[in-house]
Amino acid sequence: MKEVFFKIESNELIAKNTYEMVLSGDTQEITATGQFVNIKLDGFFLRRPISVCHAEEGRLVLIYKVVGEGTELMADLEPGRSLSVLTGLGNGYDLEVSGEAPVLIGGGAGIPPMYGLCEALIERLKPENIKVVLGFNTEDEIFYLSKFVELGVDVRVATADGSVGTKGFVTDVLKDLDYTYFYTCGPMPMFKAIEKVAKTSGQYSFEERMGCGFGACMGCSMTMADGSYKRVCKEGPVFRREEILWK
Ligand SMILES: Cc1cc2nc3c(=O)[nH]c(=O)nc-3n(C[C@H](O)[C@H](O)[C@H](O)COP(=O)(O)OP(=O)(O)OC[C@H]3O[C@@H](n4cnc5c(N)ncnc54)[C@H](O)[C@@H]3O)c2cc1C
Ligand code: FES
Repeated sequence: MKEVFFKIESNELIAKNTYEMVLSGDTQEITATGQFVNIKLDGFFLRRPISVCHAEEGRLVLIYKVVGEGTELMADLEPGRSLSVLTGLGNGYDLEVSGEAPVLIGGGAGIPPMYGLCEALIERLKPENIKVVLGFNTEDEIFYLSKFVELGVDVRVATADGSVGTKGFVTDVLKDLDYTYFYTCGPMPMFKAIEKVAKTSGQYSFEERMGCGFGACMGCSMTMADGSYKRVCKEGPVFRREEILWK
């Protein structure tokens, strides 16, 4: 883990209540796709965790949804400002087990890490063999659809109101797909629905509420299937399907 002072290059609204923040600074500690960063905001004791959407040398892209006071404040931050960010947090996805044709499933604020994962997987696999299922509530919430399409992967969309793509949830698309493995990030109700229809093994990335974000407070502990406890921030946020206790 490393505290890095990033400069905000841009911070723009890209969909309803959803912002893309581009930062410049030292990204060396970001070593695996699926890791997250933890952002210090003036006036807040706890940092706000946000998944890495895209990272390259000197440049970091985050996408965040405004849901409360912290993210509201983030949305007001102007380019040029400096931001204290803890980098290199969390385990990230295991790409070795993807097989030839994995599916990536993202719901709402869980979509950003799927983009970085997709970029990493196309370095190993044929893009056309990778399926991506994106779930939103309505058309005005859709973001990064064209970015995924530009990667050359097979992208499907589900919207709850049916305004774009399949009417319903990501699982309404997933149930008819063939794939070798799945990776997902999104809200818990979506995870529980995936668990019911998934045909293969897979990995879930949890965006649970956090305290310290680096393993010290135990505030993010989860009971696992074998009865052990794991910290979402340290041993996670990515866990294999088989190790999760589904309650
Ligand atoms: C590892 C990790 C990665 C994340 N990645 C992203 C990301 O890439 N993009 C993104 O938009 N968000 C992401 N989140 C969620 C993000 O951290 C929270 O939305 C943010 O901290 C809320 O701060 P706030 O001060 O605006 O809201 P608060 O005032 O803290 O809360 C406002 C409302 O949002 C709810 N809420 C707060 N945090 C969460 C959460 N983690 N999950 C569900 N509901 C929550 C609260 O219950 C409350 O109803 C991630 C969380 C984790 C743990
Ligand atoms: S948030 Fe403190 S241990 Fe995970």
